[in-house]
Amino acid sequence: MTGQNTVENVVVEQLRFTGRPALTREADELSELMRQLSQRSFQSLTPADLHEILEDKSKQVLVVRDAAGRIIGTGTLVTIKQLVGPKHRIEDVVVLEEVRGLGIGKALTKALVEVAKSQGAKSVELTSSRPKAQQLYYDLGFRQRDTMTMTLQLQPS
Ligand SMILES: CC(C)(COP(=O)(O)OP(=O)(O)OC[C@H]1O[C@@H](n2cnc3c(N)ncnc32)[C@H](O)[C@@H]1OP(=O)(O)O)[C@@H](O)C(=O)NCCC(=O)NCCS
Repeated sequence: MTGQNTVENVVVEQLRFTGRPALTREADELSELMRQLSQRSFQSLTPADLHEILEDKSKQVLVVRDAAGRIIGTGTLVTIKQLVGPKHRIEDVVVLEEVRGLGIGKALTKALVEVAKSQGAKSVELTSSRPKAQQLYYDLGFRQRDTMTMTLQLQPS
């Protein structure tokens, strides 16, 4: 993908299982993206892990590819069935460093919101500690909710 990309020509698609060779390549490409997302040490995503995620109906993995088919951006919509009703969360939004600022992150996030809408979601949640990402989400209409996120660290990060 080169510098002429704009939000108008970014194609977002749902990642589906299309066979073992593609799965292996896609697990490597997504591993690189998750390495760029996670500040903690990240263990590579195996083809088996990816297959399990793609088979899981509660997770919709969206991707953007370059002209050669390589995954250059991704985001996941997770739908959690709860006693009070379904909860929709956007997770793991990341764009390869070399193609950031071209509208790919925005296109992915908009598409994830559309998937949530198509599932009848009343709202969509996400957590973000990074100012650049926060601006993107704010521009798309997300607003900070007045709750405190608490974590109990069970192992050293
Ligand atoms: C956050 C991230 C996904 C955005 O993807 P992207 O493709 O670079 O973003 P876009 O090009 O779609 O830009 C969307 C908005 O993000 C902000 N933004 C993007 N790049 C920016 C930059 N270099 N400086 C400041 N703001 C920037 C702007 O608000 C931009 O809005 P605009 O189009 O009106 O200018 C990407 O920077 C990334 O992968 N970051 C590391 C992982 C991460 O933080 N993920 C989010 C976890 S919650």
